[in-house]
This record gives sequence, structure tokens and C-alpha cells, in this order.
Amino acid sequence: LSPEDVQARVFAWFDVHGRKHLPWQEDTTPYRVWVSEIMLQQTQVATVLPYYARFMERFPEVQMLAAADSDDVLHLWTGLGYYARARNLHKAAQQVVSEHGGEFPVESVEALSTLPGIGRSTAGAIISISTGQRAPILDGNVKRVLARLHAVEGWPGRPAVEKELWTLAERYTPDNRLPDWTQAVMDLGATLCTRGRPDCERCPFNDVCVAHARGEEKRFPESKPK
Ligand code: ADE
Repeated sequence: LSPEDVQARVFAWFDVHGRKHLPWQEDTTPYRVWVSEIMLQQTQVATVLPYYARFMERFPEVQMLAAADSDDVLHLWTGLGYYARARNLHKAAQQVVSEHGGEFPVESVEALSTLPGIGRSTAGAIISISTGQRAPILDGNVKRVLARLHAVEGWPGRPAVEKELWTLAERYTPDNRLPDWTQAVMDLGATLCTRGRPDCERCPFNDVCVAHARGEEKRFPESKPK
């Protein structure tokens, strides 16, 4: 399975079925993409939409978020859950203003992931979507797609397994259409290659997915051993 083959399948699927007009896809500044990615970390798109709209109306720029009261930030987050995300968001905004002159350090995954709440995958998503630079991502959606495609054994919480998945993510990341690529692989995992009920009939990898060929798609990725 060559990277070119994987990329061609993903883009052909995305061009027909991908989400292309979400609010954070319309004006892809690092700030707007960052807020969307933090909200989407543990929450589905449909739930995020109204929260995102209210948040952006109240804090259209990182400087306004940095200057806000914590209570106001948390209030806009109420209902989304995982409140550490909101506290990190506020702290990161203050850091962007005080340490980076109000500009997100999107020159590298390393620089961006020094901000609270931004791990390697979220940094890759923000950079690829907002700048088009080549940066791989490996969120829960993409882990599921790759673990099934290659029948990667072992729980992804194990460093050796996670490392193997990052190697695959890196190999398949294209050199062009980075914003589409990142959105496409996340959409594939979020809408088709779902945890409980994968829709293999509509999947662009139907004929090459190792887990599917074995009839074992729901065994991957493996869960935490007891
Ligand atoms: N999960 C994390 N980021 C996402 C995005 N941009 N679209 C859909 N699901 C996501």
C-alpha cells in the first residue's frame, strides 16, 4: 500500500463525502483552528458548532481571550465538559500574547506543542490546517483507521504501539493539500471507521484493510489490557 495510493483514496473519498464548510474551515487562522481543535478533542462536531459560534463571537481574537476573566471563559464552555481544556485554552492564549507577540508559533510542531493543552497531534492538525505545512496527525480517529488498515496489534497506550502508528501516519502524510488531508483522515475515522459500528461498505479501504479482510475490524485498536 503506497503512500500515493492511500492519499489518492482518501482525497477521492473526501472530495465526495468530506466536510468542507465547517465554520473553522472558512477562515483558517491559527487562532480559529486552535479553538476548534481543542473543542473537538473530546466532543463531536454537531455538539461543538453552537459553542464555537458563541466563543468566536465573544473572543474573536486571541488578545481578547487572553484578557478575559476565567469565569467568562468557563461560562462559555459550560456543557462541553472536560473543563481542563478551557483552563488550558485561557492559559495558552495568555502565553501566545505574552511570549509570542500574539502570533501562534506555527513554525514547528515542537514550538506549538509547548503551549498548554496542545500535544503532538493537535499541533500537527493546527499547523497543517492553518498553514498547509506538512505535519502528521494521530488523534483517536486516525489511530483507529491506521490500526485497522494494518491490523496493528497491541493497545495504542503502549509506547511501542503508538510509535508504530506515528510511523504509519508520517509515511502516509502527503506533500500537498494538507488542510484537506488532515480533515479527511479525521472525518474518515469520525464518520465511517467508527469504534462501535464501522461502515466498511462505504470505506475507500474496503478492499485493502487487513482488519476487515479478517472480519476483525472491531478488535482494532486493541483496548487496554487488564
Ligand atoms: N476531531 C478533532 N479535530 C477534528 C476536526 N477538525 N474535524 C472532525 N473531527 C475532529
